[in-house]
Amino acid sequence: MRVKLIYLFICLFVVSIFSCRNKEENNTETAPIPELSLFKEPYRPQFHFTPAEMWMNDPNGLVYHNGIYHLFYQYYPEDIIWGPMHWGHATSKDLIYWEHKPIALFPDENGYIFSGSAVVDRNNTSGLGTPDNPPLVAIFTYHDINKEKDGSDDFQTQGIAYSLDNGESWTKYESNPVLGNEGIRDFRDPKVFWHDPTQSWILVLVAGDHARFYKSEDLISWNLLSEFGKESGAHGGVWECPDLFPLKVSDSGEEKWVLIISINPGAPNGGSGTQYFIGGFDGTTFTSDQEEEKWIDWGTDNYAGITYNNEPNDQRIFIGWMSNWAYARDTPTREWRSAMTVPRSLSLNKSGNSYELTNYPLDNLGTIFKPELKKDFELVAEGSEMISFDHFNQSEIRFKTPNRNFEFIFGNGLGEQLSMALDGEKELFLLDRSKSGKTDFQEEFGKIIQKAPITDIPDGEIEVRVLMDWSSVEIFINNGQRVLTAQIFPNENYTYLTFKNVSAENLIINDFEVSRAESIW
Ligand code: FRU
Repeated sequence: MRVKLIYLFICLFVVSIFSCRNKEENNTETAPIPELSLFKEPYRPQFHFTPAEMWMNDPNGLVYHNGIYHLFYQYYPEDIIWGPMHWGHATSKDLIYWEHKPIALFPDENGYIFSGSAVVDRNNTSGLGTPDNPPLVAIFTYHDINKEKDGSDDFQTQGIAYSLDNGESWTKYESNPVLGNEGIRDFRDPKVFWHDPTQSWILVLVAGDHARFYKSEDLISWNLLSEFGKESGAHGGVWECPDLFPLKVSDSGEEKWVLIISINPGAPNGGSGTQYFIGGFDGTTFTSDQEEEKWIDWGTDNYAGITYNNEPNDQRIFIGWMSNWAYARDTPTREWRSAMTVPRSLSLNKSGNSYELTNYPLDNLGTIFKPELKKDFELVAEGSEMISFDHFNQSEIRFKTPNRNFEFIFGNGLGEQLSMALDGEKELFLLDRSKSGKTDFQEEFGKIIQKAPITDIPDGEIEVRVLMDWSSVEIFINNGQRVLTAQIFPNENYTYLTFKNVSAENLIINDFEVSRAESIW
């Protein structure tokens, strides 16, 4: 009896601690408070953003304002498959811990609310706020489903909405849409930013197989400036979710402009992917003499990514949707569907005459990783080493190596395996999820061995960093020079990692480290 009473007291104490914690963290009346159990379902990412429930796709309206990073996203609150699009909303002070907010934008008589961006209209150019309280303005695509069903081509237009309380509540502009459509079927995903040299707003959107650039003084009336891309880059599918921004080349004063374009299908490893162009933008026209296709991420699951406007620390911060339209609707989660990548900082490197965009987790993410296992080891030809850890699916794994011919394979007690390899002869990094767990929910999911070229990775020691969550893996090679992001659905945690030397030389693994990742929920 006494034991039972003590147990009851302990339970009451624990429950009261958790409910207080929730109240403190969600200090707005309207924010839905996610139940703790909700964030522990099978496959629920523990350090990646997911909505509390239901369907999510692209990140939208990434903007920083008054100490808060906003993350809006394509959201359907009634089901775990795509449907009439809303903008879901979450906020963060550090891009690690997120607070779920009420839905920001609902569909209206002009249509569903598709992807777009948000800006701080600091000088109140739109007149939608006041000089003392400049508005946050969201610019998005309206998708008129009735018009589409009726067979017309002009069903996508651009609208705006504004907030005078740092994103807590939103009002649609009364004379939407602000940019009509002259009959282009895929005419969407506006990214807007302030262009200082011309003291104007620039909007880039996609029009099927190319990008279009517009200019405005007030975010309301827009004039077409130019087009780019009909003859450039990959064209295996429709262009979506553009972004355009300047970036300094590392270790030099040179500045280039980066144009990001998502494409679906047509990615190097099938389905959806994100390409980029390096060039110049003079306030009117984007030009690039880049000949080869360039991809932000060589994995199957990083799509529709865009970057933050108004970022205070002069970083270019990118977030992508960790899924692929080829199977996004079929993945084996029930309460919610899909997650965002960890926020990544973009940098530009130059080697020879070629520029390359790297992406790497933000430094502060390091605070959630607690090192538990460290060692250096060396394997003779054909040798192997097995490392055990109780929960690789919520961890960070790092090592350095001068070698280019080895495999490293995560596995669990069920015999499921996620295999990775560097193949020096073929000059490829390989990711094979064919035996990684559940794969049969869609025909292609497990079949393709994901490949990324390592041709241009310099000789010498490289760093490999793997972030593994309950249903994803992000692999950063050589500080983000090559990146692969992929979803995985193991039926149990991976508990071992085996390194195999597949060459005649000794395999040297330095600074090998496994860190447990704290849950952000
Ligand atoms: C990209 C995309 C966008 C569109 C949105 C609709 O994943 O197709 O082009 O605005 O999703 O949800």
